[in-house]
Amino acid sequence: MLNGKKVLIGITGGIAAYKICELIRMYKRQNAIVQVVCTPNALNFVTKLTLQNLSQNNVATDEFEIPDFKPEHIAYANDYDIFIIAPASANTISKLAAGICDNLLTSIACAFQKPIIIAPAMNTGMYENKIIQKNLKILKDIGYQILEPEDGFLACGTNGKGRLCDLNKIFDKTIEILNRDNFSNKHFQKKIVVTAGGTIEDIDPVRYISNYSSGKMGLAIADEAFKLGLEPVLITTKYIQRPYKVKEVKSALEMKSAVEQEFQKADYVVMAAAVADYRVKNKSEQKIKKSADDILMLELVKNPDILKALCSDKKHQIIVGFCAESENLENNALEKLKQKGCDFLIANDISRKDIGFNSDYNEVTVFDKFGNSTKLDRTGKNEIAKKILDIILK
Ligand code: PMT
Repeated sequence: MLNGKKVLIGITGGIAAYKICELIRMYKRQNAIVQVVCTPNALNFVTKLTLQNLSQNNVATDEFEIPDFKPEHIAYANDYDIFIIAPASANTISKLAAGICDNLLTSIACAFQKPIIIAPAMNTGMYENKIIQKNLKILKDIGYQILEPEDGFLACGTNGKGRLCDLNKIFDKTIEILNRDNFSNKHFQKKIVVTAGGTIEDIDPVRYISNYSSGKMGLAIADEAFKLGLEPVLITTKYIQRPYKVKEVKSALEMKSAVEQEFQKADYVVMAAAVADYRVKNKSEQKIKKSADDILMLELVKNPDILKALCSDKKHQIIVGFCAESENLENNALEKLKQKGCDFLIANDISRKDIGFNSDYNEVTVFDKFGNSTKLDRTGKNEIAKKILDIILK
């Protein structure tokens, strides 16, 4: 979700500096371009070599080491999309609040006109010091994003507030800001509910009925929607952490209730989940024992049709269904579109092994309620998701 984004990380002199090594990896895993800038004291806690290897970039510390004609602090301030200062020491916070520019990091911050995230980390006494609190407020008031430190065991051996916040918080905030910073689009803050994964219908405490849906298609739609500035709610049987709301569910009944809770305020609903049509009638509370009989009979009852119920309850929402077909794709899809009453139905051919269930690729045809259809050729699920969104958001 950070593909090609330019992330500038400022590390100041604090023991939590070592944690930033992992943060760099998190950004790199998302294909971000990472540049690390350290205060001279930061390098007492973590080595330049480590940071260089992880960021796959040089590490800048000296304002006057100018490789070309551009002053370093101005070049970084112009080039990078976001500046994350973590850990932010009491010293650096106070310098930033006072506009002091006595090293490369503080000079860049002073010139930086895009979002800045500050993640303080220090001893509790320092953090609670009124001057530091006042300085943090100054930074907050001028638009810096402050990610408060957490309570816990501190390197100085005491318990209290001052631990660097969870790295996921810094990471999620970065994604949120970078994606929501391009607010120019009309989809901003439209709510999209997306379901993903195969539902799990218990037989007994150890066995269940499910299907091969990996949840990748639904996840790709939620991710791409988020990048467009929409507000996704992903309801999934395959939990994954994301910078937007994710609800984990198991059975069709749980999925139904989670979708219903989100439906009224939704602008779009995309049912990419493979919902089991049937569940076990009397699920056993105890593990079913092997008996002398060769046959075990399971009685199944129909699950509610979530998509159909939403469509008959629909007000302003645009509702999109998926259908997995192994034969007569077009006829079955058109029949299903009519029967469910949705605005769009996206059909995929599950007889093919190179697309659909549990694949990273898909090839689909999007049918709309007016009888139009658009074929989307085989490509990665994120590309397919972008094209689907392109159609339904119109
Ligand atoms: O998860 P992946 O591995 O990435 O694979 C993606 C996918 C192949 C699962 C996905 O693209 C897909 O086709 N999802 C729908 C599969 C499915 O259940 O199709 P269906 O024809 O049985 O159902 C049609 C629609 O009704 C679906 O939107 C389904 O969510 C919905 N439904 C079905 C049954 C039910 N009881 N309630 C429902 O809401």
